[in-house]
Amino acid sequence: MKNIAIFGSGNGSNFEAICEANKNGIIKTNIKLLVCDKKKAFIIERAKKYGIETLVLSLKDFASKADYEQAIVNRLKELEIDYIFLAGYMKICSNVLLSNYKGKIINIHPALLPSFKGAHGILDAYNYGVKVFGVTIHYVDEGIDSGKIIAQDIINYEDGDSIEIVEEKIHKLEHVLYVNTIKKILEE
Ligand code: GRF
Repeated sequence: MKNIAIFGSGNGSNFEAICEANKNGIIKTNIKLLVCDKKKAFIIERAKKYGIETLVLSLKDFASKADYEQAIVNRLKELEIDYIFLAGYMKICSNVLLSNYKGKIINIHPALLPSFKGAHGILDAYNYGVKVFGVTIHYVDEGIDSGKIIAQDIINYEDGDSIEIVEEKIHKLEHVLYVNTIKKILEE
């Protein structure tokens, strides 16, 4: 069975969807570690609920981004992590992580890439007035939301949908698409 780590910075609904799918046997993996860069993030509470080890590190406590990432890599290596799944991790992965886990870091983005990259994908798409929203799962490279696409799925805008409704629909879609994609990756 493959060992995975999940990286997140915030709410952790995707993290929870993955944990739940693993608990229910939809995916079969060892979720060995949550890496979180925000001490007060709710995702940490979710990890406690599932008894998952959490590594909480603040970039500001390190001399450089490379040192910060090296501390993460050290624990990943100890735990023999095979794949890293980013789920709302609000930092760009740099060379230390990328070179140690080449082709093994995957991210979920709440828009149809290559449109609406960056931290506000849903809001940017909504303000643009798109009629088709979507979710993208992609490999992580040195750019922002620029790696090779693995999977995408869509939802249609329905007249009158508020931003909150669109967000809710997108997050629901994310949870399903991420679990299904992780399942496929782990079975490769
Ligand atoms: C998701 O929309 C994900 O696509 C993006 O950040 C958000 C994280 O949400 N990268 P959550 O923390 O999983 O609830």
